Amino acid sequence: MRFLYQQLAQQLQQQIEQGQYRCGERLPGVRELAKRRKLSVATVLASYRQLEADGYLSATSRSGYFVKARYQPPPLSNIPLPQAMPSIVSSQQMALTLSKAAADSRYMALGAAVPAPAFLPLHALQKALQHTVKTEPARLLRYEASSGAIELRQQIARRMALHGAVVSPEQVIITNGCQEALMLSLKAVTQPGDVVAIESPAFYGLLQALEAAGLKALALPCDPRLGLLPAVLQQALAQWPVKACVLIANYSNPLGSLMPDSHKKQIASMLSARAIPLIEDDTYGDLGFSGDRPASCLALAPDADIFYCSTFSKTLSPDLRLGWVIAPKHRARLEYLKFISNISTAALPQLAVAKLLKNGQYQRHLQQVRGQYQLALAAISNQVGRLFPPGTRVSQPQGGFVLWLELPPPIDANLLAQQALAQHISIAPGTIFSPAAPGAASVFGNFIRLNCAVVQDARLQRALQTLAQLCQQQLAAT
Ligand SMILES: Cc1ncc(COP(=O)(O)O)c(C=O)c1O
Repeated sequence: MRFLYQQLAQQLQQQIEQGQYRCGERLPGVRELAKRRKLSVATVLASYRQLEADGYLSATSRSGYFVKARYQPPPLSNIPLPQAMPSIVSSQQMALTLSKAAADSRYMALGAAVPAPAFLPLHALQKALQHTVKTEPARLLRYEASSGAIELRQQIARRMALHGAVVSPEQVIITNGCQEALMLSLKAVTQPGDVVAIESPAFYGLLQALEAAGLKALALPCDPRLGLLPAVLQQALAQWPVKACVLIANYSNPLGSLMPDSHKKQIASMLSARAIPLIEDDTYGDLGFSGDRPASCLALAPDADIFYCSTFSKTLSPDLRLGWVIAPKHRARLEYLKFISNISTAALPQLAVAKLLKNGQYQRHLQQVRGQYQLALAAISNQVGRLFPPGTRVSQPQGGFVLWLELPPPIDANLLAQQALAQHISIAPGTIFSPAAPGAASVFGNFIRLNCAVVQDARLQRALQTLAQLCQQQLAAT
């Protein structure tokens, strides 16, 4: 006969295994559960302790019992990469396929880094958009200023000041997403054929921007946790005529790495000393899992030549097409480049987002969604550890919502992505995070990136199982 505490422990174990309590989630308090189940506090405590001993829960003093990542896969190893060489960027066709799949509900969209609607504040957005249509009709019937709506520029400048970057609203240029912010920044300081230092693996949207501008990429190997190391950049600058450097210092895409402040300062001053502008992509800076927002390079090195680029795509909605760029030394040039590119960004999303920033809804949403992204990442990492072949290594980001997986060789990530697409699952194969054309060299040929901002449901479970089976089949075939 089993004791009551063992019966309860078994039920809770089942709930954890079925995903009713997810990895990282807090279980009800001991007293609360005792009351709900009409059991004694001692019985509930004994079952929690049992689950802790069995590796299902971890106890945090004062905060309670949390579901543990039982199948935490090993972290990424440091990947020795070939010496960096500037190369022409091409073959981003696969990225277009992923972008299409992200907008097609028949696909399980683990490819493009696009949050599922459940992570975005639809109701608040609807209300702010409707209110804008009602209250500002005249603003919606003309061209907005090329630099953007003053209401939004003011709110952005205020928010940036809260995080240590003191900028004036006049310095903010509103763009059609961060992608346009990056493109305008590159245009402002480079000519076709110039060499741009970037991270490796690199965010593939940046590779597209380099391809569009006819620039050469110098892809510098990054540390999985710390991002680009100052010593690696220093060596590259001594060797190549670098005209600009693009970095995602906070929760990079795809590695999820977070650069220490001391490295940010070192890198900014190293580039300043050589009069090389730094283009900082801070798309994920607001999405850290700990309470403290990491500082931007702009905040840490206000006198350096920095283009700060960011977006509301990952926090409010990608369809707003709303981003911004701040480069105090290049403001007039950026405004002109924005004007000759597409005149201006639509006023409707700008005014609506200005409201969400002003009334505190943006900040409240961030507080909520950061935890949701953290849970989603932990749950998928856990499932990868449980289902994928031994030898699979996974990044351990402290922010954002993408995971970077190193699959045991000889798994071919391009083949895996094709096989997965045939089963209506999109994943991003590692090769598109490298400027080298697929096949030219197998850089990241056994890596994939997974978008984890997806609903944790049976469909996701099936998709992860399918991916794991496809990996096993490839291994079995060798
Ligand atoms: C690092 C990074 N920068 C820029 C972008 C592009 O953002 P937007 O949708 O604002 O153009 C993305 C989107 O995936 C991203 O991950």
